[in-house]
Amino acid sequence: MIAIGSDHAAAGLRKVIQAYLETNQIPYVDLGTDEAPSDYPVIAEAVCAALTDGTAEMGVLLCGTGIGMCMTANKCRGIRAAVCTETYSAKYTRLHNDANVLCMGARVVGEGLAVEILETFLQTRFEGGRHQRRVDMMMALEVSED
Ligand code: RB5
Repeated sequence: MIAIGSDHAAAGLRKVIQAYLETNQIPYVDLGTDEAPSDYPVIAEAVCAALTDGTAEMGVLLCGTGIGMCMTANKCRGIRAAVCTETYSAKYTRLHNDANVLCMGARVVGEGLAVEILETFLQTRFEGGRHQRRVDMMMALEVSED
């Protein structure tokens, strides 16, 4: 299951991503929003919650640049979000970082490229091995809420 969300700046791109997922019969949950204006942290938090509660395995967050979504998502427990503007980064953030949230900017990437980035992200598996140790080191930096 993929959880997707966008703010007002990327509502159009979110529809394109939804169409791609439907065409390819990839299950997704749409967490909005069609409100304008909207606050990207609210949407980012909702998508990340879908991952942490087990509803979804991957998330897609879209805003104007992808950056606000990514910054917010990376403050959520268990989330490894990456902004991608081309397919090389999408491939390697899966292979090496085990990224679980893809962020893109609707004002940065065209719709066709965004779909190719998403396709690459979803089709690439984490390599594990020496990268697992590094991901574990990264995740150990999460501040305990206790
Ligand atoms: C909204 O204007 C814009 O700030 C937002 O979509 C995003 O780009 C923030 O990072």
